[in-house]
Amino acid sequence: MSFTPTSVLVTGGAGFIGSNYLLHVVPAHPDTQYVNLDALTYAGNLANLRAIEEADNYAFVHGDINEGALIDRLFEEHQFDAVVHFAAESHVDRSILDPTAFVTTNVHGTLVLLQAARKAWEGAKHACRFHHVSTDEVFGTLGMEGHFTADTPYAPRSPYAASKAAADHLVRAFGTTYDFPYVITNTSNNYGPYQFPEKLIPLVIRNAVVGDPIPVYGKGENVRDWLFVEDHCEALDSVLHQAGDQTTWLIGGDQEITNLELVERLLDEVDRATGKPVGTRRSLIQFVTDRPGHDFRYALDSSPVKEALKWTPKHDLSSGIARTVAWYLGNMDWLNDVLDGGYREYYAAQYGSRGMN
Ligand code: NAD
Ligand code: TYD
Repeated sequence: MSFTPTSVLVTGGAGFIGSNYLLHVVPAHPDTQYVNLDALTYAGNLANLRAIEEADNYAFVHGDINEGALIDRLFEEHQFDAVVHFAAESHVDRSILDPTAFVTTNVHGTLVLLQAARKAWEGAKHACRFHHVSTDEVFGTLGMEGHFTADTPYAPRSPYAASKAAADHLVRAFGTTYDFPYVITNTSNNYGPYQFPEKLIPLVIRNAVVGDPIPVYGKGENVRDWLFVEDHCEALDSVLHQAGDQTTWLIGGDQEITNLELVERLLDEVDRATGKPVGTRRSLIQFVTDRPGHDFRYALDSSPVKEALKWTPKHDLSSGIARTVAWYLGNMDWLNDVLDGGYREYYAAQYGSRGMN
């Protein structure tokens, strides 16, 4: 199937993946209009979008996806034929400290968008599409073996994962009940430029640069599959344009690694990039109390998206880590700007009880 949207509402486009997505699609599709609706929470940063802010086919709207009247007005003004929905509270550790905002934004906010799109697209003569950007965490946790597939039953275990699972269920329920046009993508851990430094990879790079302790939860044995964000954005663009209606796609990097090994590789890369003997910074590693309910392993079977949509990630962990470390070292101003008071408060709440500064 081929779908070419003319006017796309992108939610959460000032966040990590949303901004990488806009940096990719705005120049790639000059005949498509993109409206970025973002509430600019602590995780949203318009500085990420400087390269496209003057583009003719891009506009920013500051607002909350929970505001139904605003969303209806935007549909009226821009006649969207697609929604690419990134906006979310996205950090598991914050969801453990307080799940409330996760249900408000990830569940209620998604419902508000679905309702607005359903109303606007009822009886439409042209194709329309709602793309929900979701996570592998909806499937729960794996042991040493096996991969999640699109048929794996949902078993979310953190408040974040439960809120994303609820949103996925709502999207599919709209599909079944209202014949609503949707696609869902469930993705593994992303990394790369513009990621807020509360997530593992940018947090390690930031602490390595300034010489702060590197908190590794438990024994560092948990396994994650890492996908370089630009590869993810290419897959998302292919799904929006090419996937069949009411389909789900799992997008992984096939780059599994334990947290401890990943942290060591990152620290060694920072040593290399800053001219220190490789291995120097490993002494910064500090094992801290494990995350409650810490999912052991995630892994996705991405063969359907590779086969059907001819997508392949261009980066493995080696090239992705090298690019990511180089980006953060070259953008320390960006990093320092986002490390404002709000983040420091969170850091104290998160790591204060774990023996961190
Ligand atoms: P992020 O936290 O970096 O960005 C979220 C963005 O949403 C921010 O710009 C924020 O300001 C905005 N936002 C939050 N609440 C809002 C609201 N109520 N109204 C409007 N805007 C709001 O998140 P991310 O890492 O870029 O993740 C984007 C999406 O991808 C999320 O839906 C997340 O669940 C999903 N995802 C992320 C990963 C990952 O590794 N980062 C992996 C799989 C799936
Ligand atoms: P994170 O980046 O929070 O992503 P997710 O929880 O969505 O996988 O964490 C990645 C892994 O790193 C996860 O297993 C938890 C672990 N972790 C640490 O060991 N220390 C940290 O300071 C953080 C933030 C995460």
